[in-house]
Amino acid sequence: MFKNNEVGVAVVTDALQIIRLLADGEFHSGEELGRLVGVSRAAVWKRLQHLQTQFGLRFESVRGRGYRLAGGIELLDVSLIRMRLSPDASDWLQHFEVHERIGSTNRRASELVREGVHSGAIVVAESQTEGSGRRGRPWLSPFGRNIYLSALWSFEGGVAALEGLSLVIGVVVARVIAPLTKCHIELKWPNDVLVDSRKLAGILLEVVGDLDGRCTVVIGIGINVRMSGAEGVDAIGQPWTDVESVADVPVSRNTILSALIEQMVSAMRLFEREGLSPFLHEWDRLDCLKGCVVSTEAGGRMQTGVAVGIDASGALLLEIDGAVQAVHGGEISVRIKA
Ligand code: BTN
Repeated sequence: MFKNNEVGVAVVTDALQIIRLLADGEFHSGEELGRLVGVSRAAVWKRLQHLQTQFGLRFESVRGRGYRLAGGIELLDVSLIRMRLSPDASDWLQHFEVHERIGSTNRRASELVREGVHSGAIVVAESQTEGSGRRGRPWLSPFGRNIYLSALWSFEGGVAALEGLSLVIGVVVARVIAPLTKCHIELKWPNDVLVDSRKLAGILLEVVGDLDGRCTVVIGIGINVRMSGAEGVDAIGQPWTDVESVADVPVSRNTILSALIEQMVSAMRLFEREGLSPFLHEWDRLDCLKGCVVSTEAGGRMQTGVAVGIDASGALLLEIDGAVQAVHGGEISVRIKA
């Protein structure tokens, strides 16, 4: 595991040392690699093959030149991310963990709560082996390609405040991605982030602790950055896209992460003070359901109507037979009717 403590000191595994050396996309000799991790030249290729299967990376071996990671890779860089944060976001960020491979950053964040950390914490990973999405779906999380982030926030208001919060996080993601891609970002209630109706990012909020009073929420954000070509993408059960396809240029994950932490801290502070209202206008501008005939399904009950926006609490407003009804979050699936 590659784990950073509060001051950002990294404990780097052999695997990560090798990947770091090869991250530049240049050739490195077997001797250099062997020396780095203390194995013989002959054992290096075996080690690289193991990393290929473990992390889905593609190494090349060329006689007389050595080994390389074709195209290189940008790894997450804690010091760079920290350096780019404003004093306010830096103050907030007391605990920062970066993992090369983890089950799920959300699960790790929940563990932190049990260990006594309730706020000011971020867990990110290069890859997840059991990344989870809404409604119990898996979230494909290949190594070194995307953003997998979980933040801990402690706030008053219990689960009731969550509905608005998940919409705020959608706005945060849109604020980060729009300037980098120059694309119109769409938000699909309650918290899908889309471009041209294809999913670019997902948000999963989970409450830990007291559901009525002061509680801690795990804010999980997954952003597809460079998904094309990754193993398993063909099995994703819905139309998807990634930042690089829509931006048409390489985009740094470290840039996205620092902007995401920065925007999240300032939005959460505002949400704590003023609730959802300062975000309603922006949400409305990005709302991709407005005017569409949609069906919602919760606990086996189906409702169909025309989406007319959201109310002050973040509920979806549906016009059904001339009357407007508020549909609240939770395990609801929303489909645009063809
Ligand atoms: C969705 O289904 O739209 C929500 C996807 C949320 C995925 C993120 S990736 C980081 C965090 N860790 C997880 O296991 N899930 C969330």
